[in-house]
Amino acid sequence: MADLSTTWMGLELKSPVIAASCTLTGSVEQVSEAARCGAGAVVLKSLFEEQIQQDAARSLGGNEQRFYYAQAEDYIREYSRGDALWAYLELIRACSREVSVPVIASINCVSPGEWVQFAREIEEAGADGLEVNIFVMPSDPSKSSAENEKVYFDVLNAVTRAVRIPVAAKVSSYFSALAHTAEALPSTGIGSLVMFNRFFSPDIDIDTLELKPAPLFSTPADYYNSLRWIAMLSGRVGCDLVASTGVHDSDALVKQLLAGAKAVEIASVLYLKGFEEIRTMLEGLEEYMDRLGFSSLSDFQGRMSMKHSLHPAAWERSQFMKHFSDIS
Ligand SMILES: Cc1cc2nc3c(=O)[nH]c(=O)nc-3n(C[C@H](O)[C@H](O)[C@H](O)COP(=O)(O)O)c2cc1C
Repeated sequence: MADLSTTWMGLELKSPVIAASCTLTGSVEQVSEAARCGAGAVVLKSLFEEQIQQDAARSLGGNEQRFYYAQAEDYIREYSRGDALWAYLELIRACSREVSVPVIASINCVSPGEWVQFAREIEEAGADGLEVNIFVMPSDPSKSSAENEKVYFDVLNAVTRAVRIPVAAKVSSYFSALAHTAEALPSTGIGSLVMFNRFFSPDIDIDTLELKPAPLFSTPADYYNSLRWIAMLSGRVGCDLVASTGVHDSDALVKQLLAGAKAVEIASVLYLKGFEEIRTMLEGLEEYMDRLGFSSLSDFQGRMSMKHSLHPAAWERSQFMKHFSDIS
């Protein structure tokens, strides 16, 4: 019987399939169901930086109304904690009592700030880890790439200073020097990079001339970008790599492991097919391992990465060859 266990940021996972942060991981029942279907870990739905900031700011009012005494401010801050934060901590407590696999809290943010202190409460509530989903849209022409990237370092340094539980950084591929940044980010103390997040994207309705949301879910053809980057960075960055986006079946799972991922995070397929699909993916993984004579994931993890591949340059090729460009 193949051993499907893996490790992620020092956590022991019984399988390499992680239920990614989304609205399906927002209750203890759903998290338990994901674990029952074989998930090695579950990342809870995210809290947003703004939710954490707002709750304190609402009671404190604007700057002109600031309390004179710092103690009074602290007091109000504590008691202004809205339902969302309270409910989130309760969810973590319930999961830590009732769920047998590691449960990772998640925060979406765009800046370091007061919200970072909430990470401590997440740790105290019993989360096994924290995933920080950072995205700075590089759309401001007055900001250099170095300025944009500094935000990632500032956030992650602040979070890893605040907690002792392992921290994962979920990022996009919108970096001008992704390999350079990915190699440098573990200096902040993170245990993992999750590549890549999937964002809300706008689309255009050509009849009404209005904006509309692009499809919410990924497709099975969307895994190539993260596969390439996992393969190119595997063995070169000082933290674990987790693949996300477009993993819909066991073949894509196996490919990401061969490229060097410790695990995959999946969301869209859970919406499309339900948590049971985790079991199907794991059965496919086991079948694959039996077929190729692998008894544990370490027998093949990273074997097709750029570092170990017989044709490393193929991972970097980005121009279509002349052969393809002649096709009409
Ligand atoms: C409906 C929906 C809600 C999501 N909500 C969150 C979220 O709150 N926080 C987060 O970090 N990622 C969120 N994601 C992104 C997923 O965690 C995942 O990284 C992304 O969808 C790529 O994986 P997939 O191709 O398997 O969907 C969401 C994705 C979907 C489809």
